[in-house]
Amino acid sequence: MNENIPIFITGTDTGIGKTFITALLAACLMDKGYRIGVQKWISTGDSDVCQDTQFVHSVALDLWHGRDGQVPLHLFDQGCYRLSFPSSPHLAAEIDGVRIDNHVIEREFSRARDGCDILLVEGVGGVMVPLSRRYLLIDLVARLKIPAMVVARSGLGTLNHTLLTINALRERGISVIGIVLNSQAERDEEFEDKRIVEDNKLVLSDLGHIKVFGPVERVRHPLDALGYIEPVAKTIIRACVKNPVLP
Ligand SMILES: Nc1ncnc2c1ncn2[C@@H]1O[C@H](COP(=O)(O)OP(=O)(O)O)[C@@H](O)[C@H]1O
Ligand SMILES: [Mg+2]
Repeated sequence: MNENIPIFITGTDTGIGKTFITALLAACLMDKGYRIGVQKWISTGDSDVCQDTQFVHSVALDLWHGRDGQVPLHLFDQGCYRLSFPSSPHLAAEIDGVRIDNHVIEREFSRARDGCDILLVEGVGGVMVPLSRRYLLIDLVARLKIPAMVVARSGLGTLNHTLLTINALRERGISVIGIVLNSQAERDEEFEDKRIVEDNKLVLSDLGHIKVFGPVERVRHPLDALGYIEPVAKTIIRACVKNPVLP
């Protein structure tokens, strides 16, 4: 099964749950028999080791614990940019004295894509984040023609951010597979009023003409949220995989 499908996991903001949802998707798709690749082109406020891909790996290892064979997850970290300053990539690169070279990212992306069935590329912050003073992340995603999945908060404040994000993606011809609402309940109880969350889901699917999943509730361990991600994984398979062999 070598489908070579890339998905760009973006979000309406930083800290919204991109890594968390990427980890769940990787685990769920692995469980269905796919070989998953994970890549994060640029991380900031990071060491040489990418914290986000490491998180995805640790969740995959937990899922695979006690099973035969190696975990079918590969981290394609080679050649990616790990910047120490916690800021937008353009500034972090300037401070670290690095130039983010799109050709390097494109090369590593192609390599990763060829090395797995489904490649999950985690974004950096939101879609309009600058990689340099002249170039935005969204322009690179459009150039590479990667379909996107948007992670958004489930409660108050999501409508504007999410509709702007999907509009920006579509304006550049990027196909948006769906929105995954992720709960911020622990931090913002009052923002997660049930009436707001339910209505957000309706408004986003009606005005955005898009599939809206979730809300993924706050859980103690990521694998406790696998059930929420099952329909997202199925939609990805239906939308992107040519000959799905598994449900
Ligand atoms: N549904 C959830 N349940 C529990 N913890 C979550 C959930 N979603 C996100 N988190 C936690 O919230 C923090 C921010 O999420 P993260 O995925 O790192 O955001 P991003 O990648 O968009 O910056 C992390 O510590 C993550 O593990
Ligand atoms: Mg992240």
